Amino acid sequence: FWSGVEMGPPDNIFGLVEAFKNSTHPNKVNLAMGAYRDEYGNPYVLNCIKKAEKIILDRNLDKEYAGMSGFADFCADAAKLTFGEDSPGLSDGRIATVQSISGTGSLYLASTFFAKFYPHKVVYHSNQTWGNHAQVFKSAGLEANTYTYYDKSTCGLNADGMLKDLRELPSGSIILLHASAHNPTGVDPTQQQWRDIGKVLKEKGHLPFIDMAYQGFATGDLDRDAFAVRLLEREGLQPVVTQSCAKNLGLYGERTGALHVVTASKEEKDRVMSQIKILIRPTYSNPPIHGARLAVEVWRNKDLYKEWLAELKIMSGRISDMRKALQLGLETNTNRKWPHITRQIGMFCYSGLETDQVTLLREEHAIFMTKDGRISMVSLSNNNIEYVVNCISKLLIM
Ligand code: LMR
Repeated sequence: FWSGVEMGPPDNIFGLVEAFKNSTHPNKVNLAMGAYRDEYGNPYVLNCIKKAEKIILDRNLDKEYAGMSGFADFCADAAKLTFGEDSPGLSDGRIATVQSISGTGSLYLASTFFAKFYPHKVVYHSNQTWGNHAQVFKSAGLEANTYTYYDKSTCGLNADGMLKDLRELPSGSIILLHASAHNPTGVDPTQQQWRDIGKVLKEKGHLPFIDMAYQGFATGDLDRDAFAVRLLEREGLQPVVTQSCAKNLGLYGERTGALHVVTASKEEKDRVMSQIKILIRPTYSNPPIHGARLAVEVWRNKDLYKEWLAELKIMSGRISDMRKALQLGLETNTNRKWPHITRQIGMFCYSGLETDQVTLLREEHAIFMTKDGRISMVSLSNNNIEYVVNCISKLLIM
């Protein structure tokens, strides 16, 4: 049956994780995958989640279906967390929210919705963006194209280039934005730059499609990391937001997240909601229940919520400590300045290493990172930072 099936290429992130697992190098380091590790390099289950898990277990709950749109409590809380308590769309009942399959599943669901109902079939994303974005859009039947974003010469944002591109795109274009902690560059617009972006989006009638994977994880502050989403919504734009609980609640494999579509009226919301459910039913039918129960427990239990906020600070704080250590180590060992390491934010450092250097690091030192030179900061720890610094430095002063 399958003799004509050709071998496909490995995934640009998970393929490296598999290669890392297969490596027998004693010092191997996985800097490819964005999944938080503690200071000893071990996967980290948040304490608030462990406690929520016990509470839920004691309740002896059933395993019934959540319903196509997921748990109502989860959707309500997820929307509040995203848009803020005083969101105009929430108070008008204009936001269609469904619990979906973490960030990727929500992006795919939104894309299938656009493919079916939106007149424009191109998603414009920043150049660079997360390695999975374009393939999600394409597999949902959309095209993927880019707008200017990253400035290689400053390792920062090319704000003028971005605004110019947004102005020149056809009115009503779908513009993919990263709410905070831009992946892979770690370069976010300032609040003033977000205002400028919002102005152009509004003038051009573009549709903001916001990927929010790092709320609370970027700065340790849930409100600050949701600034862009809330600003655009309050400016009267109608963003479509994909929300992931993978990073901020550490629910990676539980696939917990939501899709929010801000609409013009309650009646429009009901229609949008009905069609999203129609897209869900033949694909995954109902979202997974365990992660959503955990999230709601943490969000509604005062003690657990407090502990969560503290753990967000611990995680984002450890990342910023590792940034400082990496910068210091590289500046000490190479005759270069590495200010962008601490200027960037979030899970990743866009190091500036070239593809051939990345290949050498992998082949000779078993240091795995994506070919664009993205370093997963969360995988650096006191156990491996010296090794990583030494190997990169050796390579650069060769
Ligand atoms: C990453 O960028 O490494 C993470 O978001 C994990 C993933 O799904 O790619």
